[in-house]
Amino acid sequence: MSDTPSPPLTVLGIETSCDETAAAVVRLADRPEVLSSVIATQFERHRPYGGVVPEIAARAHAEVIDTVIRAALDEAGLDFADLSGVAATAGPGLIGGVMVGLAAGKAVALARNLPLIAVNHLEGHALSPRLTEDAPYPYLLLLVSGGHCQLLSVEGIGRCTRLGATIDDAAGEAFDKIAMTLGLGYPGGPALERLAATGDATRYTLPRMLLGRAGCDFSFSGLKTAAARQAAGLTTEAERADLAAAVQQAIARQLAERTERAMALHLERFGDAGRLLAVAGGVAANGAVRAALAAVAARHGFGFVAPPLKYCTDNAAMIALAGAERLRLGLTDPLEVAARPRWPLDTDAALRAPLHTPGRKGAKA
Ligand code: KG4
Ligand code: ZN
Repeated sequence: MSDTPSPPLTVLGIETSCDETAAAVVRLADRPEVLSSVIATQFERHRPYGGVVPEIAARAHAEVIDTVIRAALDEAGLDFADLSGVAATAGPGLIGGVMVGLAAGKAVALARNLPLIAVNHLEGHALSPRLTEDAPYPYLLLLVSGGHCQLLSVEGIGRCTRLGATIDDAAGEAFDKIAMTLGLGYPGGPALERLAATGDATRYTLPRMLLGRAGCDFSFSGLKTAAARQAAGLTTEAERADLAAAVQQAIARQLAERTERAMALHLERFGDAGRLLAVAGGVAANGAVRAALAAVAARHGFGFVAPPLKYCTDNAAMIALAGAERLRLGLTDPLEVAARPRWPLDTDAALRAPLHTPGRKGAKA
């Protein structure tokens, strides 16, 4: 996958930006090889609250981070001495959790005299298709998770251009919130997909947000409101399944339609060399979403790659890979590097069109 052969690099990755404490070891030679990928989920601790509670998340990361790092090394059959570097997520994310993982990475780097690489969580997701697939730069990426919904031209390390992003909720957030109004548990996406499997998507009409509108941005708030209104009047299980199917179809269609627009922009810049669509993030697990994207890709002569589910959702292998690719380019960070709750991948786009009103610290994501 690399353009020039280089000596193999073995990098420990650490990820703690949300509710998974993860560590992984990736060896990057000509192609990346995941030697281990360990994830301790905090899922059960947040379930009673219907969402991730930042303070609980930070404490839970601190409790297990050492064990998870040890487990990743053991699973890889390696010791700290075998590493070429340590990569840790430095943002964006829940700051308490990010600080735990970054501090752990700094400790390993300092104690073992290893280079530290502070990785943007979004760059990790952006590179995740390369863990298992043949995905040469540049490709078009749809990143769809509970916290993010954006379209990026991924040209390489530090070279991601944002073509569009959600102006309100992320797609996963929309799945989760609508699932809640349907009485489904947290996280709602997978539960909603199961319910939708028996439903008829044509029974309820939902707004087709931004359909035909210029640009590649997303919006799900109107859909959320309309679905909540419909859900309030439902009595039977069949009706709930039909509404779930309609919601899933509406989200999948919007994702596909906006991606189609982004394809045109991406091709303007990269021509045929860019004819590859990749998807990442937890929502990529959704069968209807994958099918809609695969259809758009086929229609426009794009290849389509989706990483296996374990690398779509938050994991440390993608952080280790981003770290290894950075290390190969000589891009390392000082031990003083700060954790960042907000850290847009494409700073120019974030300043032009902030996803959130910029606060003192600038655009969030
Ligand atoms: O990437 P991820 O694990 O975490 C971040 O948000 O960063 O994504 C989790 C999101 C949740 O909103 C979850 O409901 C959604 O992905 N999700 C799904 C499915 N599996 C996970 N949404 C729809 N259908 C699914 N099968
Ligand atoms: Zn994520």
